[in-house]
Amino acid sequence: MEPELGVAVVGFGWMGRVHAQAYARVPHHFADARPLRLVSVADDVPGRAEAAARRYGFEESTADWRSLVGDPRVRAVSITTPNFLHREMGSAFAAAGQHIWIEKPVGLTAADARAIVGDIQVTVGFNYRHAPAVEKARGIIADGGIGTVTHARFRFLSDYAAHPDGALSWRFERARGGNGVLGDLGAHGVDLVRHLLGEIDSLVADTAIFIPERPRPTTATAGHQRAAGEPGPVENDDYFGSLLRMVSGARVTLDCSRVAVGEQNSYGFEIHGTTGALFWDFRRMGELGVGTGRSYQDEPVRTVYVGPADGDFGAFQPGAGIPLSFDDLKVIEAARFLRSVTDNQPYGPSLTDAIRAAEALDAMEQSAASGRWVTLPR
Ligand SMILES: NC(=O)c1ccc[n+]([C@@H]2O[C@H](COP(=O)([O-])OP(=O)(O)OC[C@H]3O[C@@H](n4cnc5c(N)ncnc54)[C@H](O)[C@@H]3O)[C@@H](O)[C@H]2O)c1
Repeated sequence: MEPELGVAVVGFGWMGRVHAQAYARVPHHFADARPLRLVSVADDVPGRAEAAARRYGFEESTADWRSLVGDPRVRAVSITTPNFLHREMGSAFAAAGQHIWIEKPVGLTAADARAIVGDIQVTVGFNYRHAPAVEKARGIIADGGIGTVTHARFRFLSDYAAHPDGALSWRFERARGGNGVLGDLGAHGVDLVRHLLGEIDSLVADTAIFIPERPRPTTATAGHQRAAGEPGPVENDDYFGSLLRMVSGARVTLDCSRVAVGEQNSYGFEIHGTTGALFWDFRRMGELGVGTGRSYQDEPVRTVYVGPADGDFGAFQPGAGIPLSFDDLKVIEAARFLRSVTDNQPYGPSLTDAIRAAEALDAMEQSAASGRWVTLPR
């Protein structure tokens, strides 16, 4: 049995809680998981870290994340703070040789993600990759099950910022939230496109802010909440639409919105190949629409319920058709992160994946500003 691994969580909002719960659940689902020790939780909102330590079983709490840098008890750190802190925190822990499970988008730009350097394992929170139906789709594509991919539509549409009274939290500021919906939902979208269809060659994009002002929060925020403070300016994008040319020659549209009234976490894809097609919607995570025959026209599409043979589904449920949840994807991500630390090799989305996604998002901003196609760095 491997020795106990000490972990800490830095930033205890929505994702901090999800990471803490995922660590606790890993041994419930993965019998061979390395034993963990929840050493510390850090948050700078007074009382938040203490409450988290009491509720989730961390040995201690702190308001000062720097006190955890180089702490020999902490071998791995979850960085679940707002985007503008990822670079500073990630580089500090990486330089101290502490392994990192960091939330997407990893900083504000590709340069921020590149600044995290160290001889460590880094897992990035691109959780949608871990959905067993996505893994199944990847296998079908790789096996030529839908022929050669010709074109696809990916969407990440949400209404989390559709209410005009939604608080002007860090998410809507350039300096703390970066490029808005691009880093927030677009990072997931680009990662899913790359995971399923390979590298992006070039792209063209358009962006928009549809709610230019929001009320400032009057208390510390967590997640998405309403506010009634003085109005302030929204500095980053609510929406983008993009057209991607893949290295393979396939064409992809990816559109993302945080103000899409009527769309609640409407994330998914439709992928078309020369002989078949695949369809997935996150809200029906266990179902994959599969058309893989040879009729070309009028090809039937059947609904396949993923089961124990698909990805890590079997760690959760014994039979197809029993739904997995968002939090289960984070348990899978945590388990793969811990295994990557033990084996010293990546098993999930890596820092390179975060850099590639950020390069695509940076290119989208350039394209939206210039009105031109942008070729991605190789
Ligand atoms: N993978 C996903 O599906 C997913 C979903 C939501 C958010 N995220 C990402 O997770 C990150 C956090 O998002 P969230 O929704 O949890 O935000 P949140 O606002 O709910 O939580 C952020 C927490 O960080 C804390 N914090 C801020 N500054 C700090 C500091 N200096 N030291 C310690 N703690 C500090 C805040 O007090 C807050 O508790 C973001 O990068 C976001 O993009 C990923």
